[in-house]
Amino acid sequence: MAEFDDESSVSEKKDKRDVVETSSQEGSEHVPDSAGSLTEDVSPEVAEAVGDFMEQAAQQNEAAAEEIPDVRNKPGSYISFEHVYKAFGEFVVLEDVNFCVNPGETLCILGRSGVGKSVSLQMLMGFLKPDQGTIRVAGENICGLGEKELQRIRQKVTMVFQNGALFDSVTVGENVAFPLRERKDLAEDQIQQVVKGLLEMVGVAGMEDLLPSDLSTGMKRSVAIARALASQPEAVLYDEPTTMVDPMMAHLLGNLIERLKQQLHLTSIVVTHDMQFAKKLADRVVFLHQGQARFFGTVEELERTTDPVLQEFLALDELVLPV
Ligand SMILES: Nc1ncnc2c1ncn2[C@@H]1O[C@H](COP(=O)(O)OP(=O)(O)OP(=O)(O)O)[C@@H](O)[C@H]1O
Ligand SMILES: [Mg+2]
Repeated sequence: MAEFDDESSVSEKKDKRDVVETSSQEGSEHVPDSAGSLTEDVSPEVAEAVGDFMEQAAQQNEAAAEEIPDVRNKPGSYISFEHVYKAFGEFVVLEDVNFCVNPGETLCILGRSGVGKSVSLQMLMGFLKPDQGTIRVAGENICGLGEKELQRIRQKVTMVFQNGALFDSVTVGENVAFPLRERKDLAEDQIQQVVKGLLEMVGVAGMEDLLPSDLSTGMKRSVAIARALASQPEAVLYDEPTTMVDPMMAHLLGNLIERLKQQLHLTSIVVTHDMQFAKKLADRVVFLHQGQARFFGTVEELERTTDPVLQEFLALDELVLPV
């Protein structure tokens, strides 16, 4: 992990919000994106610290993408499922499933309840093993890796669970501070500033001193996203980030995931039922149905589909989730 640039955070008077927006585009003219800067809504007193932190994450992600050779547009590069099978006893969940995600891309996993979306994420994290097939994460085949090696992978690729999976006995602030303390190179005031800034970024400003049990499901998920970002991952896997949150929070989280992609080059997999959300975020979509990846392609390709199963899913979505 790169060192946190203490000196520049003190001496540089430049607004770090600008730095984050432009950090990955050195040498090219910056065109502001529609989603806005990552830290634009963060309090001025912590914007510099959190801006430094995010800039460092962006640089690490650029470097990580470079390390995997010739993969930018090649299928099967950063994260992939190759002929993956998974059953629980007699009950087959996944059967010869294939999809992939390139560095910096966002993949949405769609499909009805019980189709194996969460199981797929748990396999990508190494919590569940496939019965057959290859699963590649951060460019490495993780099948056959031991727990210690999986932990190394989990430092690069982190997951935001449906319920947040926070540490219940410590405050929200300490949950987010946990990955910052683990790295041991940050002063306490830097930690506090980054925690405050991250909580503001995910829409739960000022909740540092509350316990997870004081929060709603949506707020817990936001805190889980802040904690995930505190570990400066290369990729984040989100399980239903907008389920059980109000439309304002869903909009904020959608924008945040989009900004993280544009400005940190974060690779993301987003499990969702929400087609509007998928249309906004996805480079590509995989639709799971009856154990198989019934569709894998862009949102535009999905919308042109003549497959009746997909057409029915899209039509039902319009009915249940009007814009
Ligand atoms: N550890 C397990 N042991 C046995 N069966 C399991 C286990 N985990 C998941 N399953 C089963 O695998 C199937 C797929 O589950 P999964 O949680 O991936 O569904 P999902 O697509 O995420 O659904 P939802 O949209 O409701 O969250 C379900 O039938 C579930 O009961
Ligand atoms: Mg699920």
